[in-house]
Amino acid sequence: MLLASGIGITPFIGYLETLARSGGSVPEVVLHHGSRNSTSHAFRNRTSELRDLIRQLRVHTHYSRPEPHDVLGRDHHHFGRISAADVDARLIERRARFYLCGPEDMLSDITIGLVDRGVPRFDIFAEKFHVAPQRVDVPDSAQATVRFTRANRQVTWRKEDGTLLQLAEREGIRLPSGCRLGQCESCAITVLDGQVAHLVTCPEDLADDQCLTCQAMPMTDVTLDA
Ligand code: FES
Repeated sequence: MLLASGIGITPFIGYLETLARSGGSVPEVVLHHGSRNSTSHAFRNRTSELRDLIRQLRVHTHYSRPEPHDVLGRDHHHFGRISAADVDARLIERRARFYLCGPEDMLSDITIGLVDRGVPRFDIFAEKFHVAPQRVDVPDSAQATVRFTRANRQVTWRKEDGTLLQLAEREGIRLPSGCRLGQCESCAITVLDGQVAHLVTCPEDLADDQCLTCQAMPMTDVTLDA
Protein backbone atom coordinates (compact mmCIF):
# COMPACT_ATOMS: atom_id res chain seq x y z
CA MET A 1 0.00 0.00 0.00
CA LEU A 2 1.43 3.34 -1.05
CA LEU A 3 -0.26 6.45 0.31
CA ALA A 4 1.00 9.78 -0.99
CA SER A 5 -0.04 13.38 -0.75
CA GLY A 6 1.00 15.95 -3.39
CA ILE A 7 4.64 15.64 -4.34
CA GLY A 8 4.96 12.94 -1.69
CA ILE A 9 4.38 10.63 -4.63
CA THR A 10 7.92 11.27 -5.89
CA PRO A 11 9.69 8.36 -4.15
CA PHE A 12 6.86 6.03 -5.14
CA ILE A 13 7.24 6.94 -8.79
CA GLY A 14 10.86 5.78 -8.53
CA TYR A 15 9.68 2.49 -7.02
CA LEU A 16 7.02 1.98 -9.69
CA GLU A 17 9.53 2.77 -12.45
CA THR A 18 11.69 -0.01 -11.05
CA LEU A 19 8.76 -2.41 -11.00
CA ALA A 20 7.85 -1.49 -14.57
CA ARG A 21 11.40 -2.30 -15.72
CA SER A 22 11.79 -5.49 -13.73
CA GLY A 23 10.96 -8.52 -15.75
CA GLY A 24 10.54 -10.68 -12.65
CA SER A 25 7.74 -11.16 -10.21
CA VAL A 26 6.01 -7.96 -9.14
CA PRO A 27 4.00 -7.65 -5.92
CA GLU A 28 0.43 -6.45 -5.83
CA VAL A 29 0.58 -2.66 -5.28
CA VAL A 30 -2.23 -0.28 -4.40
CA LEU A 31 -1.49 3.44 -4.66
CA HIS A 32 -3.66 6.15 -3.08
CA HIS A 33 -2.57 9.60 -4.23
CA GLY A 34 -4.12 12.82 -2.93
CA SER A 35 -3.95 16.15 -4.77
CA ARG A 36 -5.91 19.34 -4.75
CA ASN A 37 -7.23 18.81 -8.28
CA SER A 38 -6.11 17.91 -11.80
CA THR A 39 -4.05 21.10 -12.20
CA SER A 40 -1.83 20.29 -9.19
CA HIS A 41 -1.81 16.52 -9.70
CA ALA A 42 1.91 15.65 -9.70
CA PHE A 43 3.06 12.93 -12.13
CA ARG A 44 -0.51 12.54 -13.36
CA ASN A 45 0.36 11.27 -16.82
CA ARG A 46 3.26 9.10 -15.71
CA THR A 47 1.16 7.47 -13.00
CA SER A 48 -1.44 6.50 -15.51
CA GLU A 49 1.23 5.17 -17.89
CA LEU A 50 2.73 3.11 -15.08
CA ARG A 51 -0.71 1.75 -14.23
CA ASP A 52 -1.00 0.52 -17.80
CA LEU A 53 2.50 -0.99 -17.66
CA ILE A 54 2.17 -2.75 -14.29
CA ARG A 55 -0.67 -5.25 -14.26
CA GLN A 56 -0.51 -5.65 -10.47
CA LEU A 57 -0.88 -1.90 -9.81
CA ARG A 58 -4.16 -0.30 -8.78
CA VAL A 59 -4.38 3.48 -8.47
CA HIS A 60 -6.87 5.54 -6.47
CA THR A 61 -6.82 9.30 -7.02
CA HIS A 62 -8.22 11.69 -4.41
CA TYR A 63 -8.98 15.37 -5.11
CA SER A 64 -9.66 17.67 -2.18
CA ARG A 65 -10.72 20.67 -4.27
CA PRO A 66 -11.64 19.42 -7.74
CA GLU A 67 -11.94 21.94 -10.56
CA PRO A 68 -15.36 22.26 -12.18
CA HIS A 69 -14.04 20.21 -15.11
CA ASP A 70 -12.71 17.40 -12.88
CA VAL A 71 -15.17 14.54 -13.17
CA LEU A 72 -15.51 12.03 -10.34
CA GLY A 73 -15.00 8.56 -11.76
CA ARG A 74 -13.01 9.86 -14.73
CA ASP A 75 -10.35 12.28 -13.42
CA HIS A 76 -10.43 11.15 -9.80
CA HIS A 77 -11.91 8.30 -7.82
CA HIS A 78 -12.50 9.95 -4.45
CA PHE A 79 -13.47 13.39 -3.21
CA GLY A 80 -11.54 14.69 -0.21
CA ARG A 81 -8.22 13.92 1.42
CA ILE A 82 -6.84 10.41 1.84
CA SER A 83 -7.67 8.76 5.13
CA ALA A 84 -7.09 5.38 6.71
CA ALA A 85 -10.76 4.63 6.04
CA ASP A 86 -9.96 4.47 2.31
CA VAL A 87 -7.87 1.34 2.78
CA ASP A 88 -9.56 -1.88 1.71
CA ALA A 89 -10.15 -4.02 4.83
CA ARG A 90 -9.10 -7.12 2.90
CA LEU A 91 -5.61 -5.69 2.48
CA ILE A 92 -5.34 -5.13 6.22
CA GLU A 93 -6.43 -8.72 6.80
CA ARG A 94 -3.75 -9.86 4.35
CA ARG A 95 -1.08 -7.93 6.31
CA ALA A 96 -0.20 -5.45 3.60
CA ARG A 97 2.72 -3.16 4.34
CA PHE A 98 1.99 0.56 4.33
CA TYR A 99 4.32 3.21 2.91
CA LEU A 100 3.29 6.82 3.51
CA CYS A 101 4.82 10.01 2.12
CA GLY A 102 3.45 13.49 2.64
CA PRO A 103 3.18 16.29 5.17
CA GLU A 104 3.36 15.57 8.87
CA ASP A 105 -0.39 15.99 9.55
CA MET A 106 -1.26 13.49 6.85
CA LEU A 107 1.28 10.97 8.12
CA SER A 108 0.10 11.12 11.70
CA ASP A 109 -3.63 11.08 10.85
CA ILE A 110 -3.29 8.06 8.59
CA THR A 111 -0.95 6.23 10.97
CA ILE A 112 -3.39 6.68 13.87
CA GLY A 113 -6.27 5.56 11.66
CA LEU A 114 -4.43 2.47 10.42
CA VAL A 115 -3.40 1.43 13.92
CA ASP A 116 -7.04 1.88 15.01
CA ARG A 117 -8.00 -0.49 12.22
CA GLY A 118 -5.57 -3.12 13.46
CA VAL A 119 -2.46 -2.49 11.40
CA PRO A 120 0.68 -3.20 13.47
CA ARG A 121 2.83 -0.09 13.80
CA PHE A 122 5.83 -1.98 12.48
CA ASP A 123 4.00 -2.52 9.17
CA ILE A 124 3.78 1.26 8.63
CA PHE A 125 6.71 3.15 7.09
CA ALA A 126 6.43 6.92 6.77
CA GLU A 127 8.52 9.64 5.19
CA LYS A 128 7.77 13.30 5.70
CA PHE A 129 8.54 15.70 2.88
CA HIS A 130 10.12 19.00 3.80
CA VAL A 131 9.89 22.35 2.12
CA ALA A 132 12.94 24.59 2.23
CA PRO A 133 12.02 27.88 3.89
CA GLN A 134 12.59 31.07 1.93
CA ARG A 135 13.94 34.08 3.75
CA VAL A 136 11.43 36.91 4.04
CA ASP A 137 12.78 40.09 5.57
CA VAL A 138 10.04 41.59 7.67
CA PRO A 139 11.01 44.35 10.09
CA ASP A 140 9.95 43.72 13.70
CA SER A 141 7.80 46.85 13.58
CA ALA A 142 5.91 45.68 10.47
CA GLN A 143 2.18 46.22 10.60
CA ALA A 144 -0.57 45.96 8.01
CA THR A 145 -4.31 46.06 7.74
CA VAL A 146 -5.83 42.85 6.42
CA ARG A 147 -9.36 42.90 5.06
CA PHE A 148 -11.27 39.62 4.81
CA THR A 149 -14.07 40.64 2.42
CA ARG A 150 -16.30 37.57 2.73
CA ALA A 151 -16.03 37.55 6.51
CA ASN A 152 -16.60 41.30 6.46
CA ARG A 153 -13.70 41.78 8.88
CA GLN A 154 -10.72 44.09 8.98
CA VAL A 155 -7.87 43.28 11.37
CA THR A 156 -4.39 44.53 12.11
CA TRP A 157 -1.49 42.18 11.37
CA ARG A 158 1.88 42.42 13.12
CA LYS A 159 4.95 40.32 12.50
CA GLU A 160 4.30 38.14 15.55
CA ASP A 161 0.92 37.16 14.05
CA GLY A 162 2.80 35.04 11.50
CA THR A 163 1.07 33.98 8.31
CA LEU A 164 -2.30 35.11 7.06
CA LEU A 165 -3.72 31.71 7.99
CA GLN A 166 -2.46 32.04 11.56
CA LEU A 167 -3.88 35.56 11.73
CA ALA A 168 -7.27 34.39 10.50
CA GLU A 169 -7.34 31.53 13.02
CA ARG A 170 -6.42 33.91 15.82
CA GLU A 171 -9.34 36.08 14.77
CA GLY A 172 -11.75 33.17 14.52
CA ILE A 173 -12.06 33.52 10.73
CA ARG A 174 -12.33 30.12 9.09
CA LEU A 175 -10.10 29.60 6.05
CA PRO A 176 -9.44 26.37 4.17
CA SER A 177 -6.12 24.68 4.87
CA GLY A 178 -4.37 21.34 4.48
CA CYS A 179 -0.66 20.57 4.62
CA ARG A 180 0.44 23.98 5.98
CA LEU A 181 3.70 23.45 4.13
CA GLY A 182 2.95 25.32 0.93
CA GLN A 183 2.40 22.14 -1.07
CA CYS A 184 -1.24 21.13 -1.25
CA GLU A 185 -2.65 24.56 -2.26
CA SER A 186 -5.76 23.93 -0.18
CA CYS A 187 -5.29 27.35 1.40
CA ALA A 188 -4.99 29.30 -1.86
CA ILE A 189 -7.12 32.43 -1.94
CA THR A 190 -7.26 35.50 -4.16
CA VAL A 191 -5.50 38.69 -3.13
CA LEU A 192 -7.83 41.45 -4.32
CA ASP A 193 -5.48 44.26 -3.36
CA GLY A 194 -2.01 44.70 -1.85
CA GLN A 195 1.19 42.63 -1.79
CA VAL A 196 2.16 39.50 0.11
CA ALA A 197 5.41 37.51 0.39
CA HIS A 198 5.62 33.75 0.76
CA LEU A 199 7.87 31.80 3.13
CA VAL A 200 8.30 29.03 0.57
CA THR A 201 8.61 28.98 -3.18
CA CYS A 202 5.07 28.82 -4.51
CA PRO A 203 3.89 26.07 -6.85
CA GLU A 204 4.30 27.10 -10.48
CA ASP A 205 0.61 26.74 -11.21
CA LEU A 206 -0.46 29.22 -8.54
CA ALA A 207 -2.22 32.13 -10.25
CA ASP A 208 -0.52 35.52 -9.97
CA ASP A 209 -3.35 37.00 -7.93
CA GLN A 210 -3.46 34.11 -5.45
CA CYS A 211 -1.57 33.47 -2.25
CA LEU A 212 -1.10 30.46 -0.01
CA THR A 213 -2.32 31.77 3.32
CA CYS A 214 -0.34 29.14 5.24
CA GLN A 215 2.86 30.72 3.90
CA ALA A 216 1.94 34.32 3.08
CA MET A 217 2.69 37.44 5.09
CA PRO A 218 1.40 40.87 4.10
CA MET A 219 3.96 43.34 2.77
CA THR A 220 1.38 46.11 2.47
CA ASP A 221 -2.23 46.49 3.54
CA VAL A 222 -4.07 43.66 1.78
CA THR A 223 -7.61 42.77 0.83
CA LEU A 224 -8.39 39.08 0.57
CA ASP A 225 -11.26 37.30 -1.12
CA ALA A 226 -11.95 35.38 2.06
S1 FES B 1 -2.32 24.47 3.54
FE1 FES B 1 -1.28 23.33 2.00
S2 FES B 1 -0.40 24.92 0.82
FE2 FES B 1 -1.28 25.99 2.44
